[in-house]
Amino acid sequence: MRRLPRRSVASSPAGPSCPGTRLEACAPVCASPSPAMQLDPAVTPAWPPTDAAAAAEAGPSLTDLDSPRKDQHPEQPWRKGPEDFAFGKVLGEGSFAIVVLARDLATSKDYAIKILEKKQIIREKKAQYVTSERDVMSRLDHPFFVKLYFTFQDEEKLYFGLSYAKNGDLQRYVQKLGPLAEPCAQFYSAEIVSALEYLHGQEIIHRDLKPENILLNAEMHIQITDFGSAKILAPCSKQARANSFVGTAHYVSPELLMEQSACKSSDLWALGCVVYYLVAGLSPFEARNEYLIFQKIIKLAYYFPEQFFPKAKDLVGKLLVSDSTNRLGCEEMGSYAALKAHPFFENISWDDLHLQIPPQVPGSFLSTSEDENDFGNDDIFQSLASSSSSSHSFAAVQPRLLQRPTAPVEGYIHELEENSLELDLEFSEEEKKLLLQKQASGNPWHQFVNNHLILKMGPVDKRKGLFARRRQLLLTEGPHLYYVDPISKVLKGEIPWSAQLWAEAKNFKTFYVHTPNRTYHLIDPNGNAHKWCQKIQEVCQRRCQDHPQAAV
Ligand code: ADE
Repeated sequence: MRRLPRRSVASSPAGPSCPGTRLEACAPVCASPSPAMQLDPAVTPAWPPTDAAAAAEAGPSLTDLDSPRKDQHPEQPWRKGPEDFAFGKVLGEGSFAIVVLARDLATSKDYAIKILEKKQIIREKKAQYVTSERDVMSRLDHPFFVKLYFTFQDEEKLYFGLSYAKNGDLQRYVQKLGPLAEPCAQFYSAEIVSALEYLHGQEIIHRDLKPENILLNAEMHIQITDFGSAKILAPCSKQARANSFVGTAHYVSPELLMEQSACKSSDLWALGCVVYYLVAGLSPFEARNEYLIFQKIIKLAYYFPEQFFPKAKDLVGKLLVSDSTNRLGCEEMGSYAALKAHPFFENISWDDLHLQIPPQVPGSFLSTSEDENDFGNDDIFQSLASSSSSSHSFAAVQPRLLQRPTAPVEGYIHELEENSLELDLEFSEEEKKLLLQKQASGNPWHQFVNNHLILKMGPVDKRKGLFARRRQLLLTEGPHLYYVDPISKVLKGEIPWSAQLWAEAKNFKTFYVHTPNRTYHLIDPNGNAHKWCQKIQEVCQRRCQDHPQAAV
């Protein structure tokens, strides 16, 4: 357990000892577009600077951040600091923040404390985002959002005390268990719709909705987080759009790419991507790099795998619409009443979703530890200092959009376990030639694949009747699925590819490849059955894309 020297300088009036209380430093209802202007000086802690719009433009100065305000709230009932918590495991890392599990020593209540490094925020001129995040979170009071319970700071860092969502996020859920069964996909999609209805009702746009930002609490209900990109629309000016780019490539809407402005409907686009992800296990716009992802988004180039639930397909088709005023759920299209009436949600009873028991989740997914062992982390402050860039999304889009990246072909190849590798599929024809050359000269399995590029390979146990035989499975361009006896080094056969072929993960190890005449029963000894299914599905998607007639 690590206790820190007492040097905190401010905290919000609400604290972990009274977790139901909301942070009081909230913005006035009719907010100005500049987040720094929204702070009420009477309750604003030392950071962020209160020096109005200019500070928001330039980012606060070091002096602003390093000299805490003396005008503390006189009746502030308590003053928490880092020394009041036992810090535990790292829950997440962003470009200038780290989220750490923390136990309040006085109450034994667990929180996820987001720790931000002041110097880094100033250096990267991100004060505006941090302020905005706090302002937005302090307005939210809904079961499907992470709550902000308290804030405090010391000389170097800001601390946001958030509710702890102990079951990870929807991305991890899908990565571990594969695409969701229909009732489960319906349930979580409905929770997200319900959350967005509330958020938009508060005149807030999230602008970075994605499976990673949809956490799961102890009861497996959603808790949407990460409001660093969120925007409060100004109702007084009837502002309906927010400028400047935020967001994560896969979930960014066309209007953000084309016009660099977001509206509530941009979150509905992201909803469409998330529903697709829950059902298919992949996002609809997959590509090797952001440039290619953006191209696909602009062209609306995505495809549904064969087995996509028909009602979900209809819903996604009505959300992934290039014109933001034509998306189901936006004001022009009948608002949330119309969205909630979609047939995909016909089994949903909307009023008490947060009280319902979510569809069964395999026990292996749930966090079983009581978190006792998750404390005593002495390294978090070190890891905060060394955490730099990650996949976070504060960069401006325009330079990213214009810049066509060049990458060495090695970047496409992911070596997995022994004899196993996987390729990213977004290589150009030029790059494919280089990859093939590399394969021909260095990959011992090349001799079995007719000079096709291997997209994924690895050992599997192929079951037939009571027997299982070890085979090297080779997924190649064509597409083909060859299997080779790894001992005798003899090609034993090929799973016949057709538009009807599809793969299904049964659990971590077992997956099925269904063809019209036979289901192949395969076991991945490394426990990555889902990765096989994902890659086979990606290949199916690409084939539909390159040869639309092959899909039918
Ligand atoms: N990761 C980021 N924020 C989190 C939170 N509030 N709870 C759990 N994990 C998180």
